[in-house]
Amino acid sequence: MEGAAILLFSLLFLHKSYAAELNIISDSRFLTDVDTLVSPTGVFVLGFFNPGSSENRYLGIWYKNIPVTTVVWVANRDRPLLGASQLELKITDRGILGLFNNSRMIWSSNTTASGNATAKLWDNGNLVVVDQQERIVWQSFDYPTDTLLPGMKLGRDYVRGKEWYLTPWKNSQDPAPGELTWGADRLGYPENKLRQGASIKFRGGPWSNERFPGVSVFSKSLTFRYDVTVNKSEVSFSYNLEDNSILSRVVLNSSAHLESWAWVDNVRGWLPVVSFPRSACDTYNICNAYGTCDINMIQQSCSCIDNKRFKPKDQKGWDTADWSGGCIRNTPLECKNGSEGFIKYSNVKLPDAENTWFNMNMTLEECGTKCLTNCTCMAYANPEKNRSVCLHWFNDLLDIQVLPEGSGGPDIFVRMASSELDSQYVSKKQGGEKLKIILLVIIPVVLIGLIIATWLCYARRKRKLTGEGEILNPSKRHEEDMELPLFSFSMIANATTNFSPNNKLGEGGFGPVYKGMLEEGKEIAVKRLSKNSSQGLDEFKNEVICISKLQHRNLVKLLGCCIQGDEKLLIYEYMPNKSLDSFIFDKTQSMLLDWTKRFNIIKGIARGLLYLHQDSRLRIIHRDLKASNVLLDQDMNPKISDFGLARSFGGNETQANTERVVGTYGYMSPEYALDGIFSIKSDAFSFGVLVLEIVSGKRNRGFIQPENENNLIGHVWRLYSEGRSLELIDASCAESCHPPEVLRSIHVGLLCVQQNAADRPNMSSVIMMLSSEGELPQPKQPSFLTEKELPVINYSSSSYTAGSTIDFTITEVGAR
Ligand SMILES: *[C@@H]1O[C@H](CO)[C@@H](O)[C@H](O)[C@H]1NC(C)=O
Ligand SMILES: *[C@@H]1O[C@H](CO)[C@@H](O)[C@H](O)[C@H]1NC(C)=O
Ligand SMILES: *[C@@H]1O[C@H](CO)[C@@H](O)[C@H](O)[C@H]1NC(C)=O
Ligand SMILES: *[C@@H]1O[C@H](CO)[C@@H](O)[C@H](O)[C@H]1NC(C)=O
Ligand SMILES: *[C@@H]1O[C@H](CO)[C@@H](O)[C@H](O)[C@H]1NC(C)=O
Ligand SMILES: *[C@@H]1O[C@H](CO)[C@@H](O)[C@H](O)[C@H]1NC(C)=O
Ligand SMILES: *[C@@H]1O[C@H](CO)[C@@H](O)[C@H](O)[C@H]1NC(C)=O
Ligand SMILES: *[C@@H]1O[C@H](CO)[C@@H](O)[C@H](O)[C@H]1NC(C)=O
Ligand SMILES: *[C@@H]1O[C@H](CO)[C@@H](O)[C@H](O)[C@H]1NC(C)=O
Repeated sequence: MEGAAILLFSLLFLHKSYAAELNIISDSRFLTDVDTLVSPTGVFVLGFFNPGSSENRYLGIWYKNIPVTTVVWVANRDRPLLGASQLELKITDRGILGLFNNSRMIWSSNTTASGNATAKLWDNGNLVVVDQQERIVWQSFDYPTDTLLPGMKLGRDYVRGKEWYLTPWKNSQDPAPGELTWGADRLGYPENKLRQGASIKFRGGPWSNERFPGVSVFSKSLTFRYDVTVNKSEVSFSYNLEDNSILSRVVLNSSAHLESWAWVDNVRGWLPVVSFPRSACDTYNICNAYGTCDINMIQQSCSCIDNKRFKPKDQKGWDTADWSGGCIRNTPLECKNGSEGFIKYSNVKLPDAENTWFNMNMTLEECGTKCLTNCTCMAYANPEKNRSVCLHWFNDLLDIQVLPEGSGGPDIFVRMASSELDSQYVSKKQGGEKLKIILLVIIPVVLIGLIIATWLCYARRKRKLTGEGEILNPSKRHEEDMELPLFSFSMIANATTNFSPNNKLGEGGFGPVYKGMLEEGKEIAVKRLSKNSSQGLDEFKNEVICISKLQHRNLVKLLGCCIQGDEKLLIYEYMPNKSLDSFIFDKTQSMLLDWTKRFNIIKGIARGLLYLHQDSRLRIIHRDLKASNVLLDQDMNPKISDFGLARSFGGNETQANTERVVGTYGYMSPEYALDGIFSIKSDAFSFGVLVLEIVSGKRNRGFIQPENENNLIGHVWRLYSEGRSLELIDASCAESCHPPEVLRSIHVGLLCVQQNAADRPNMSSVIMMLSSEGELPQPKQPSFLTEKELPVINYSSSSYTAGSTIDFTITEVGAR
């Protein structure tokens, strides 16, 4: 027995020591579990690996000579080798490259070649199978995983009916394909999109590579060349670096970002160069038809591409940051022959080109004339600088973005009724230049950005190292280093008449709030944080700066802070209408909130929360959303307050575990109250409670009902199950009530308070459900936790808020 073990051990040992580095797989040479196939100059290597700490084994390609294992391709993405005993990668006699476990084929290249095929790994990372005549019969570049390497194509091959697109790994331990894809449109002018199932998340848009003139001056080595093929048999895009000794790659990651990286030898690391989408403005079609998102605003903000000729379809919605209606023309098109014309808009990200017609050899003038004679043609453009390409759009123009001046984006000519035309008539001659140049499509965006960002990185590093003067445009830099105004303590003491009790607005979770007035007459709200926090000053300042960067019209704006001795003050904009609870739970005040206002408040809170969860740079779980933390401005628009105080954390962590529960009875999800687990889904729970409170005008906590239900949720659930949901509506707004919206709100509220966190919708689904008319999923049984079942926590009875310490350190998160 023992002998056998020793024999086995030495066999394994021997086997290991024979790990071979092959450079070809042929009928006589195959790869085993420990062997590798190396590219001719040793840039890439093919072999077996375990991702992270996973037990699963995969066949993949990674860089040979860099210290961080960076996998760029995986063969058996969704068929891990678990318990595989005798692995072999070999060429069969029919020319198939196959991966075998105990002679059972687990994965294979699908093509065949007659006899004596071989497999090699090229220095560009492409694993190829060639036949005896050295013709490629199969290549890994035709099956991209999550990584685009230089020379690799994205797009479509119409002859073979193949599509080249990226799909992310599920997570860092599991290379199985996630739901996202980054690939080319099926129809219309070539353009790449990031999709999740049928929905589009982000679009590159046809670009022009003269967008950033002169960038290549900075670094010759990081100059990119783009190759685009558009012909009957193929639409594809690829990139290369001018200096191909620099390693670079573009990765689609599992949280829907395209990241590009360059290997920097002297820091021995991957430099994250740029990632897309960059901001909420990059979200697909965020401003809808004829709308444009202002990327200069920190806060997302839509406007019509032209305020003279277009107006928001739904001005009211527009005023409350609901951009769903988009914009419409002031004067509708009639298409009287010849009377219409075009208005030119410069520097735009061209609209969605899914439904376009194009011609690769047509002057701009011909392009305009052809568009004018077709009533369904809404706009035309030439996306290319050096070629006469003609592009026509037929539907409303979606996902336009007006870029900053001087960014060199292309022009678009939009059809207008004759009365809207002024001297600015366009359709000018622009033909003539007909240079043979490579066409540009989308990833150029990523890659051009890559250059810029690399440049910024270098510039910043250089400045740090040498203390050299301004390299960057100073205004750009200040935007990045934006600091929060520091107020002096005496100034705030003055403004609040020495924190006079008369000026006290209330007592929040982290301390009392005072009203104040600055010398110039501006009204402010001052939160005086409890003194017993152990947090250091620098930490505090950093946190506050982070929070101050969160700006959205449904969040209370932080104006500044004040630190003096052990005093820590936060200065907010003042909200004249105080908090939502003072309205909805008050007999007389609640008359002021009719149904339309209530519904707007519900939607506004949802948008604010979505921003915290998803759209802001930090990912914030509020953890204490409740009626008294929603303030109302003079127009009754809701603004969430106290966000970021509980705990902010970066990156993509969506769940964490805390030992100290900070929250409020009645709004806490069961998993948070019982186990201290908080996530965006625990905020969704609080939101659901809030919705039900807004509709009913009753508090969840302390709700007593003759039927003996333990709380409001239980009551709503019973009414819902009996089809009597409408009885829930608060008497004071019953007259103005719009039954479909009320029922929808209650339904969404119930979806949010479901017992199981995974069943609850996230805030983007909530917003979609509230604003659409589609069918909603059936809610499952909600959580009826009563106070008796909750752990005992000290909380101040005046404000229902448990915990009173500042507790929002990023580094403190004890993630599970
Ligand atoms: C590999 O083969 C062994 C023995 O036949 C089997 O137990 C194991 O499940 C196989 N693994 C895979 C991934 O097919
Ligand atoms: C081989 O073909 C099958 C069916 O056509 C397909 O499902 C599979 O993904 C292909 N495998 C590879 C490695 O191309
Ligand atoms: C494969 O190569 C061997 C030796 O190089 C040769 O003898 C054999 O005929 C070849 N097989 C085919 C099918 O060409
Ligand atoms: C399309 O372009 C590809 C790549 O340049 C080329 O291989 C192919 O032959 C072209 N097809 C046609 C129909 O021109
Ligand atoms: C994906 O990329 C974005 C942008 O670089 C980054 O913030 C995020 O953490 C990445 N996600 C994962 C799972 O790596
Ligand atoms: C519009 O006018 C042009 C000449 O001005 C004519 O050729 C064309 O047929 C007319 N089209 C329609 C739809 O009337
Ligand atoms: C473009 O069209 C013009 C005339 O319409 C023709 O002379 C020229 O050869 C065409 N160019 C290409 C590249 O097809
Ligand atoms: C107008 O454009 C549409 C969409 O491409 C096309 O189907 C239609 O035939 C065109 N009409 C004319 C008169 O060219
Ligand atoms: C377009 O033409 C200009 C001038 O001939 C040239 O400098 C530039 O590099 C060209 N752009 C592209 C994308 O080739």
